[in-house]
Amino acid sequence: MNTENTFRLDGKDIPFKKGDTIMDAALRAGEYIPHLCHNPEFKPHGSCRLCVVDVNGRHQASCTLPAEAGMEVDNSSDAIRQRRELLLQMLFVEGNHTCPACEKSGACQLQAVAYYIGMLSPHLTHFFPKRSIDASHPDIVFYHNRCILCGLCVRASEQVDRKSVFAISGRGIDSKLVFNSPDGKLGGSELEFTDKAVEVCPVGAIMPKHLGYETPVGQRLYDTKPISVVGDVAAHSKPEKPFISDKSHE
Ligand code: SF4
Ligand code: FES
Repeated sequence: MNTENTFRLDGKDIPFKKGDTIMDAALRAGEYIPHLCHNPEFKPHGSCRLCVVDVNGRHQASCTLPAEAGMEVDNSSDAIRQRRELLLQMLFVEGNHTCPACEKSGACQLQAVAYYIGMLSPHLTHFFPKRSIDASHPDIVFYHNRCILCGLCVRASEQVDRKSVFAISGRGIDSKLVFNSPDGKLGGSELEFTDKAVEVCPVGAIMPKHLGYETPVGQRLYDTKPISVVGDVAAHSKPEKPFISDKSHE
């Protein structure tokens, strides 16, 4: 293989094209690098840091780092696994992720990555923040508790739906997703059930109304195969129209 156009990932040669990041080339070659804020359809956001890899001895975000010939990339060392585990634990304690009570359980990327990494406990002290639920939209419920601020809905709404319904506001622990509507509620926004922004959420923050338990627990996306085999939520979830559309509040 021509070493000018390859780098090494866990000892394997990975071919890459001009402009590829390490993540782009690895996913195309069938090599899974854990990620949450990355979706190949959008420009990288670089916020979750879960895609950290060791490149020539330094920890780097693989979704933003351009691939270069001859790089030595470690995607599976104990140090990298522990770093990812800590990042996941921070995500779990920062929000309220009550998986057994979440309709997205079994089809949630956060949960699936935690299983893949082997995270057995949150380890850190839970923040238990008080966060609201916005059920003002006729077809969609928004759970601030579950949002990991990956920014995918922001990018999808702006770049694909051309609506800019979502934005991230505030800093640090006070950061939250806000909606572009006169009263700040999702129901007053231009969001529609079939928007790309609804499809891309990797967790259970943007959820359809009227479709609960359509897929039984045990038969959901990641119930039988790990995320490294199945891939991202968005690649599998084309929401159907809701059974009922209660527009009575409008
Ligand atoms: Fe990401 Fe979902 Fe939160 Fe949007 S609502 S920022 S897609 S986790
Ligand atoms: Fe790279 Fe989130 S997937 S920072």
